[in-house]
Amino acid sequence: MKQSRSRLFNLLGFSCLLLAASNGHSAEPLALQKIMKDLGKNMQVITDAISREDWQRVEKTAPLIGDHPTPPFGEKLRILGFVGANMNKYKDYDGETQEHAVAVGKAANARNGQGVIFAFQKLQTSCYNCHYEFRKPFVEHFYGKQDAIQ
Ligand code: HEC
Repeated sequence: MKQSRSRLFNLLGFSCLLLAASNGHSAEPLALQKIMKDLGKNMQVITDAISREDWQRVEKTAPLIGDHPTPPFGEKLRILGFVGANMNKYKDYDGETQEHAVAVGKAANARNGQGVIFAFQKLQTSCYNCHYEFRKPFVEHFYGKQDAIQ
């Protein structure tokens, strides 16, 4: 236990060194960006399925949003290093996204169109809330773009 903890600290220390060396910037997009693009695509799938009242498709797609993959360990450390004291807030936003995605899936399962639309609006708001607060600073920090769109 003690040993594994000190190993973790070594790892954290090493990551900080890497981070300092690279100044946080990298030409490579974050794995997070691909995860986000997929979230965007799945939101579009749901919008389309709502128009068609294809509740089965909505139900199938909602968990792809709620249980989206997370970035690999090393990238998580970089994100943690950047978000720092705001990590709980960042995680809470992700938790809201998950919660509302579950609600979308449940309403679709009940074939409740109004319920799907209501929950979907909350889901979109949860994406927006995190973007409003974190997207611009992320893009500036990890890609060094000063003119990032909010
Ligand atoms: C916990 C915070 C958080 C939540 C919740 C969140 N996002 Fe993001 N999103 C980000 C960050 C940070 C970026 C910038 C990532 C980057 O450019 O590497 C981003 C970027 C994006 C992008 C732009 C990707 C590109 O092509 O550059 C899309 C699309 C996106 N998010 C969709 C969504 C959708 C849809 C949801 C909700 C279902 C969502 N996001 C929820 C943090 C979040």
